[in-house]
Amino acid sequence: MIEDIYKADAGRYEAGMEYRRCGRSGVLLPALSLGFWHNFGETAPLERSKEIMRFAFDKGITSFDLANNYGPGYGTAEETFGYVFEKSFRPYRDEMFVASKAGYDMWPGPYGNWGSRKYLMASVDQSLRRTKLDYFDVFYSHRYDPETPLEETLQALVDIVRNGKALYIGISRWPENALRFALDYLRSHDTPCLLYQERLNMLDRRIEKNGMLKTVSEGGAGFIGFSPLAQGILTGRYLHGIPEGSRAMQDKFLKTSQISDDLLKNISLLNAMAERRGQTLARMALSWVLAHPGVTSVIVGCSSVAQLTDSLKALEHKEFSDTELKEIDEISSRINFY
Ligand SMILES: NC(=O)c1ccc[n+]([C@@H]2O[C@H](COP(=O)([O-])OP(=O)(O)OC[C@H]3O[C@@H](n4cnc5c(N)ncnc54)[C@H](OP(=O)(O)O)[C@@H]3O)[C@@H](O)[C@H]2O)c1
Repeated sequence: MIEDIYKADAGRYEAGMEYRRCGRSGVLLPALSLGFWHNFGETAPLERSKEIMRFAFDKGITSFDLANNYGPGYGTAEETFGYVFEKSFRPYRDEMFVASKAGYDMWPGPYGNWGSRKYLMASVDQSLRRTKLDYFDVFYSHRYDPETPLEETLQALVDIVRNGKALYIGISRWPENALRFALDYLRSHDTPCLLYQERLNMLDRRIEKNGMLKTVSEGGAGFIGFSPLAQGILTGRYLHGIPEGSRAMQDKFLKTSQISDDLLKNISLLNAMAERRGQTLARMALSWVLAHPGVTSVIVGCSSVAQLTDSLKALEHKEFSDTELKEIDEISSRINFY
C-alpha cells in the first residue's frame, strides 16, 4: 500500500495548546500528552492509531508516552509508534518529545523485569529498535524495585543518558523516600530528574495528600499525571452501561466488577456538575488535574479522534470556584475505587 504523505498542520502551535515548563529545566511540555498504554497495540487498527497520532500532533500535542510493555502484546505499542513515525513523523522528530520506560514484566527469565542495570540497558535498546528512534527524549524507571540497590537502577539511567540513548531521566511510581534519594542522586550526577510520573485523578488523590507533588517540585522536577480519566470511569462512557469495545469490556486492567451502582451514582453527580460548568465530565476531570500547581502535563489515553477532540477542550475552562472544588472533594471522598 502506498502511504499518503503527512504534512503537519501549519497552525499546530496556534491551536490552543498550552506549554508548561517542566520543573527547573529548559523543557516545555504540552498540557496534554498522548498515552500509548492501551489502544495502540497489535489489536488496534493501524489506520486509527495513525489518525490519532497525526491529529494529536496537528493540535500541538508534542509529547508521546510509551513503555516497553504497552500493547496489548508487549512491545507492540512501540512498534505501532515506530511504523507511524517512519511513515509520517520523521521530518518532525525535533518537534517531538518521546518517552519510554522499563520496569515491569517484559520478557521471560530473570533479566526482563524490575530495575537491574542488565534489564534497563537491554530494554532501552529494544525500545529504540521498535520505535525506530535514535534516542528517547526521556527514559523512565517504570516502577520502584525493592530488591535492586537504588544506585544500580539510577546509575543505569545516568549511563543511558551519557550513552546518548536518552536526553533526560524520568521516574515513575517510586515511594517518596526513594524518590527523594533519586532526585539527589541524579542531580549530583549531572543528570537531574526531568519528570516524575504518577496517577492523579479525582478518584486517586494520594499524591495530593502525601506531599509527593511538593517533593517533586522542590526537587526541581516536573510532574506528569497518568490515568486522569481513571481509564474512562471519569467520563460519560459508563453511565448507561458498558459499551462494546470499551476498556472495561476487556475486563483486564479495568474490571466490570469495579463499576458498581454506587460508583455510577457518584459519577452521575460529577457528570451533572460538569454539565453545569458547560463541560463534559472527561473535560472537567482533565481540567481538575491541570489546575493543580506543579502539574506540567497530563497523559490522556484515547481510542478515537473524537475522544481526543473532546479532551482537548479541557484547556478552555481550567478554573474552579472554591464551591466547585468543595463539591468535588465531597463526592470523591465517598468513592472507594482503587
Ligand atoms: N507510569 C505508569 O505506570 C502508567 C500507568 C498507567 C498509564 N500510564 C500512561 O498514562 C496514559 C493514560 O492512562 P490511561 O490510558 O489509563 O488514561 P485515561 O486517560 O485515564 O483513560 C483513557 C480511556 O478513557 C476513555 N476516554 C478517553 N477520552 C475520553 C473522552 N473524551 N470521552 C469519553 N471517554 C474517553 C477511553 O476509553 P475506551 O478505550 O474504553 O474508549 C480511553 O482509552 C497511558 O496511555 C500511559 O501512557 C502510565
